[in-house]
Amino acid sequence: LENTLVLLKPDAVKRSISGEIIARFERRGLTVAAMKLMKVSREQAKKHYDEHREKPFFGELVDFITSSPVVAMVIRGENAVKMVRSMMGATNPLDSAPGTIRGDYATEMSKNVIHGSDSPASAEREMNIFFTKDEIF
Ligand code: GTP
Ligand code: MG
Repeated sequence: LENTLVLLKPDAVKRSISGEIIARFERRGLTVAAMKLMKVSREQAKKHYDEHREKPFFGELVDFITSSPVVAMVIRGENAVKMVRSMMGATNPLDSAPGTIRGDYATEMSKNVIHGSDSPASAEREMNIFFTKDEIF
């Protein structure tokens, strides 16, 4: 079984759609291995988005993810990384198909509801930013 790091971003928490999104993963057969509502620190945000530090939108990314609480989760299952990415849909909501999470809930690139790790290596790195070992069951 594989683990992946999922963040339900501030827009999702504010809109009270966290439960619906978690239910989609559970219905699919994936399980929640860790979960908490938390305010992301600027230090955590910068680490998390390190691959984007040279991009013009890096400041906005950090500002947004730290603006209000997120639901941080470790989702587990067979090929969980790819499974979650396909359920999320394309990064830009203009391209995300109806039936995907972004395709059903998002209209804006910057407020696109959810983050999911893009590889097993990213998942390991990102889980360590948001969870201690004993918080992952
Ligand atoms: P995450 O799961 O959130 O990492 O999304 P992703 O892997 O589909 O996209 P990527 O890692 O390339 O970008 C991270 C986040 O930056 C995206 O979810 C968007 O919210 C934001 N982003 C990506 N590209 C752009 C851009 O060109 N402009 C702006 N404003 N935001 C962007
Ligand atoms: Mg990404």
